[in-house]
Amino acid sequence: MTRIVEATEEGLKIAALIIKRGGLVAFPTETVYGLGADALNPEAVAKIFEAKERPFFDPLIVHIADVKELDLLWLYIDDRAKALIERFWPGPLTIVLPKKDIVPDIVTAGLNTVAVRMPSHPVALRLIRESETPIAAPSANRFGYLSPTMPEHVLKQLGGRIDLIIDGGRTPVGVESTIIDLSEETPLLLRPGGLPVEEIERVIGKVKMLTESEKPRSPGQLPRHYSPRTPLRIIEDENFEVPFGIKAGLLAFKEAKYREKFFAVEVLSPSGDLKEAACNLFPCLHRLDDAGLDIIYAEAIPEEGLGRAIMDRLRKAQAKR
Ligand code: TXA
Ligand code: MG
Repeated sequence: MTRIVEATEEGLKIAALIIKRGGLVAFPTETVYGLGADALNPEAVAKIFEAKERPFFDPLIVHIADVKELDLLWLYIDDRAKALIERFWPGPLTIVLPKKDIVPDIVTAGLNTVAVRMPSHPVALRLIRESETPIAAPSANRFGYLSPTMPEHVLKQLGGRIDLIIDGGRTPVGVESTIIDLSEETPLLLRPGGLPVEEIERVIGKVKMLTESEKPRSPGQLPRHYSPRTPLRIIEDENFEVPFGIKAGLLAFKEAKYREKFFAVEVLSPSGDLKEAACNLFPCLHRLDDAGLDIIYAEAIPEEGLGRAIMDRLRKAQAKR
């Protein structure tokens, strides 16, 4: 049985007790819902992998509520990390640095680094404080499937498999955190996300981005991810036509150009605002995936700022199984 509680004083007390006792709690962050467990309790963390059916080679992000907790987790903090933390925490930025021994191997998939972030969502911060431990949390979905931005999405995918969901409404950013690896000399972007990489470069200079063909550095960066069950294709061709007799849906960026050709249409942002589009991405995809379509066509989005994170998710959703 999975209980759902409101984000009240009492709800958070119950949630923290579950974390302390080694259970699983889904909670809102500003990016997406996370599935949390006590990061320092390997048995509790193992339950996350079981509930999500996530492969053990995919490491987790550790969430903290106070920079003091960093001394527990990281071997050192360099000047670049300090500058980024100062400027962007709490917020949708995850930083990877060498870990201390106390961080269990199951959290980091045996890597000698650990990914850490301080979320800005007040409910997430209160849960971490009340639990009195860092919280390891991937997105609260089945492995590889669309990310959850509402409690309903969590319930649909993980109902019966986890102890509790804290209902915090819709998550405001809507795409996962940006992940940056500072464990080597050149800063490396491991995942574009809710904080545009352009803003990071303004603080620490040039960041290296992996091209499509380069081998993923992080074991979790499989080609197919963030995917609806329905096949998805990105529209790259101006003269695009829906094949005859196919029940197709459209994920449009601004106005829905070829609306009449589709069985279902979702618009990410009528005004073409990338922030709004990112926030609507997963809710729109969840609705299209539930519409009984043969295929979802998605319009390409300008690859700048948050558009980079949106296109990354769409490409991974499009990749072959
Ligand atoms: O916004 C977010 O980051 C959300 C919320 C819940 O905080 N969390 C999230 O977690 O997206 P998840 O598990 O879906 O993605 C975490 C990814 C892993 O797949 C992996 O690519 C990367 O973070 N990662 C974690 N630890 C790493 C490490 N030590 N080195 C390299 N990459 C790491
Ligand atoms: Mg995920």
